[in-house]
Amino acid sequence: MAASHKITVEGAGEATCYEGERALVAMERAQGFGRLKNLPYRLPVGCRRGGCGVCRVRVTAGEFKADPMSRAHISEADEAAGLVLSCAIYPLSDIELRIEPPHFVKKAKTAATESQETA
Ligand code: FES
Repeated sequence: MAASHKITVEGAGEATCYEGERALVAMERAQGFGRLKNLPYRLPVGCRRGGCGVCRVRVTAGEFKADPMSRAHISEADEAAGLVLSCAIYPLSDIELRIEPPHFVKKAKTAATESQETA
């Protein structure tokens, strides 16, 4: 059986990430199986290739390796502070992270939430 690591998503739940698997894929699977039950919205997912920036998270604990990420979305300072694109990282240990989508995703979510509330 392939080795795996636990991804703890702050405030949402846990995902199992298999060796060589991208963190985003593991989190999508976990959400599909109801393991991120405290996450009140669908995970922000876009290009899945480190280019659009919508899957941004802040890793607060643990080790990972990363593919190149768009500097338009993750600056060197962001990366030094733990901000990464979850589609471009591969956990090497159990990790903890917080979902921190960029401002344009938050605005879209707010608009969607407001339209649901008024419907
Ligand atoms: S989904 Fe586009 S950068 Fe991760």
